[in-house]
Amino acid sequence: MNHHWPYPALIAHRGAGKVAPENTLAAMRIGAQNGFHMMEYDVKLSRDGVPVLLHDDELERTSNGQGLASALTFAELSTLDFGAWHSTAYAGEPIPTLNSIAAFTLANQIHSNIEIKPTTGDEAQTGRLVALAARALWAQASLPPLLSSFSEVALQAAHEAVPTLPRALLIEEAVPADWPERLERLACMGLNLNDRFVDQALIQAIRQAGYTVAVWTVNDAERVRELLDWGCNGVFTDKVTTIRPDTL
Ligand code: G3P
Ligand code: MG
Repeated sequence: MNHHWPYPALIAHRGAGKVAPENTLAAMRIGAQNGFHMMEYDVKLSRDGVPVLLHDDELERTSNGQGLASALTFAELSTLDFGAWHSTAYAGEPIPTLNSIAAFTLANQIHSNIEIKPTTGDEAQTGRLVALAARALWAQASLPPLLSSFSEVALQAAHEAVPTLPRALLIEEAVPADWPERLERLACMGLNLNDRFVDQALIQAIRQAGYTVAVWTVNDAERVRELLDWGCNGVFTDKVTTIRPDTL
């Protein structure tokens, strides 16, 4: 099967990279102001099962909280500050729900790559609940969100819960030789790969096999062009003010 990439080629990583606090609504607004029509963000569950945007399992790096985010209810997470760690301009920024990000992206014609980022041990539940929420929230969207994950357990659970949502397998390091079997097993449209482990031959092999490939995180404009020239379908960047869709 030949999988088609219907999304834009340039994707804002975590909303706006490092320009604004990652995975917040404020970041999405900065990405949108810079002309991005697709954003990637990380989603996991609060203790009471609410899908929220957060990269790390722990709260320390990107908030004034402590410990595992999954130990707190959404109401408890909502009392924390997810912006002051970045800069005073963003002090008081709350943790966003997937619901609020769906509302913002849909209202602004922005496509989504929802990275399912389960708290360790919560892979199946996160895959299932994020997929169910995404189906409901994006029911009227012009394009469905692309679900991706490093966790094959999460992707499998997402597939079983909502087989119609497109999925991509994320791979952190060197791409294993059995990548076609993995994509086939998980019914994924393609691979989302670490830039440090891709070359032209690999990109071409993935495309020739009929799968899509997107590469993260690319913060050099020449490298973005090279990857797209090689046939990459998508490139994720942090540099939303300089590597903009209108500069490609
Ligand atoms: O989804 C691409 C990229 O975000 C994966 O790595 O650690 O930035 O979530 P990470
Ligand atoms: Mg991510």
